[in-house]
Amino acid sequence: MEKFSIKRLPKPFNIEIDSIASDKSISHRCAMFSLFSSKTSYIKNYLLAEDTLNTLSIVEQLGAKIKQDGSSIEITPAKTLVEPSDILDCGNSGTAMRLFCGLLASVDGSFILTGDKYLRNRPMKRVAEPLRSIGAKIDGREHGNKAPLFIRGVKELKPFTYHSPIDSAQVKSAMILAALRATGISKYKENELTRDHTERMLKGMGATLEYDKDGFINIHPLKESLQPLNITVPTDPSSAFFFAVAAAITPNSRVLIKNVTLNPTRVEAYEVLKRMGVIVNFRQKENIYEPIGDIEVINNELNGVEVKENISWLIDELPALSIAMSLAKGKSIVRNAKELRVKESDRISSVVNNLKLCGVLFSEFEDGYEIVGGNLKKATINSFGDHRIAMSFAIAGLNCDMDIEDVDCVSTSFPNFKEILESL
Ligand code: S3P
Repeated sequence: MEKFSIKRLPKPFNIEIDSIASDKSISHRCAMFSLFSSKTSYIKNYLLAEDTLNTLSIVEQLGAKIKQDGSSIEITPAKTLVEPSDILDCGNSGTAMRLFCGLLASVDGSFILTGDKYLRNRPMKRVAEPLRSIGAKIDGREHGNKAPLFIRGVKELKPFTYHSPIDSAQVKSAMILAALRATGISKYKENELTRDHTERMLKGMGATLEYDKDGFINIHPLKESLQPLNITVPTDPSSAFFFAVAAAITPNSRVLIKNVTLNPTRVEAYEVLKRMGVIVNFRQKENIYEPIGDIEVINNELNGVEVKENISWLIDELPALSIAMSLAKGKSIVRNAKELRVKESDRISSVVNNLKLCGVLFSEFEDGYEIVGGNLKKATINSFGDHRIAMSFAIAGLNCDMDIEDVDCVSTSFPNFKEILESL
């Protein structure tokens, strides 16, 4: 297993970065949604990381022809999706597994979705149950809650009205994909808007999705195949955020991150840094499916902060934010974040166990933690197999030296992370 040994930064940095990993959520969706068209989709800047390459292989196993030239991908789907001759391996990706459940529920054939030991331990009932209630046949370990999942595609799915008890873009997307092939108009509602790439991209491809006055998305079944995608995937704001925190905790430093999606559901963590006192500037340059532009982060004072709202907009960035909180003046608090417990690792316990090793004072709650800002001390950190934990504590190492064990997981989302870190 690979290990990172990070040394304290001897001097400030002022850099522009245009090589941060492409957006993972959008890349997954590009590969999957191309299957709803009959024509070739052209995708530039596809994320070449383990999670999204697994999704691409699954799309190929479902009969699509794929031409790849570096990160430029052309996907031509088969006329009808093909039953694969082998299992479909989603690796570490909850997004892949949950979205494929919705996509495959009404495809003629049998499909087995599996993943690594971390993914096989994550809850799948949140998609399997609502899909079963509309006629899908999905089975799995632990009464259908855990992968491997076995899907037997059915001829027809019933239209539904579903108010989800969990705010999750993965659940929403799985249900929307199922609804596209249901026998009537379906309605989906969430308590708080979660990342909305699925809605934006499918609408851009010609699907009919409308919000009604009661906050439901009305999803019309497809009458014909959708327009193909022609898209350049923007930079991933969640991956870029590690370098935003690096600037926030390193005196007199500045970073400019180029061509990021500025979708409001994805940049909330930068707003939290701003509330902590850091200077953050957004510059929108274009709008193709999503607003896209640059984010500048300039070091300034760093004060404690309360984070209790819009948790689904912060779910991937809270580990990195916890590093900024540990070095801020005063207390910080994170609540209503129980979902963190079912991510790639139990992120509440991964964060607090590691912060404890770094000498940080904190309290742990079932749905969050409270951190008393101060200093970090050198420690040997366990990633718990979670890429975002590994990268968050690597950034902490810029402040105090750090050894991070089991960092192979970083390649699930950000293979050149170490290279960029070294360039600082
Ligand atoms: C994702 C949604 C989020 C996020 C994950 C990617 C997506 O999960 O944590 O990294 O692409 O839809 P949930 O929707 O389960 O919160």
